[in-house]
Amino acid sequence: MVFENRCVIITGGAKGIGAGCVEVFHAAGGKIGLLDLDRKAAEQLAERLNAKRENSVRFLECDVSDFERLEKCIDEIVEHFGQLDSMINNAGVHPPATAIDDFSIEQMQQLMNINFMSTYAGAKFALPYLRKTKGTIINISSMTAVLGQRLSTAYAATKGAQVSFTKALALEAGEQGVRVNAVLPSNVDTPLMREWAETLEDPQSALERVASLQVFKRMATPREIGQVCLFLASDQSSFITGQAIEADGGAALDY
Ligand SMILES: NC(=O)c1ccc[n+]([C@@H]2O[C@H](COP(=O)([O-])OP(=O)(O)OC[C@H]3O[C@@H](n4cnc5c(N)ncnc54)[C@H](O)[C@@H]3O)[C@@H](O)[C@H]2O)c1
Repeated sequence: MVFENRCVIITGGAKGIGAGCVEVFHAAGGKIGLLDLDRKAAEQLAERLNAKRENSVRFLECDVSDFERLEKCIDEIVEHFGQLDSMINNAGVHPPATAIDDFSIEQMQQLMNINFMSTYAGAKFALPYLRKTKGTIINISSMTAVLGQRLSTAYAATKGAQVSFTKALALEAGEQGVRVNAVLPSNVDTPLMREWAETLEDPQSALERVASLQVFKRMATPREIGQVCLFLASDQSSFITGQAIEADGGAALDY
């Protein structure tokens, strides 16, 4: 119960990696502010966990690229639970594989808003509360930030921006006792992964190829990434900040 009576906000917590984080932090005793666009999935998850422990998950409908709404939601969660100990900027989307020639400036700006600007805004709005608790920020980036990805210039750039931001903010926030880290998963079995595979010619063999990239010959589960986040949010990682943790199942080895 390393997160008992502490509060975390998780963006995109209804499904995939975000939902994995919700489950893991809940099992560790945490109170959870779940922000997501998908009301149905979020309410189902919140209802199930609140039945296990009353008033432990509060869902607010939020598009993280609506920064005013994001700020209001963060304020409302803190008002509800009384404190904030960790902010996990996880919500993100992966556009279909597209050449740069076919991806417009407007599409890139929109993707930047969802994947990166939301991380900047989430961290900025959470920081005043995190300074009080000496809390943590965790940004869910991607191995594409360091390895690139074919036909994904836009996506990879948004993920790289999260890593640079993490390092610079760690310097600034560290002086006030706030730690900031990024997690870089390779391939995680989530709805996003399966929807991305569907945009390719042969989705099944694409998923098999993706699984074979890790030394364990499988993708990560959302809960495995949640466990990395819990470590980074807990006192067990008290000397770790500004790091881009490559939770990649060895996918980058033996290039
Ligand atoms: N799945 C992978 O293999 C993988 C690998 C590396 C990094 N990531 C990163 O992990 C994060 C989560 O990915 P996932 O695979 O769990 O995705 P997912 O699509 O399975 O789940 C994402 C969740 O975020 C929500 N969401 C999407 N856009 C939102 C918005 N604008 N505002 C609020 N909520 C929004 C969705 O409703 C959903 O609940 C993303 O930032 C992604 O870039 C995923």
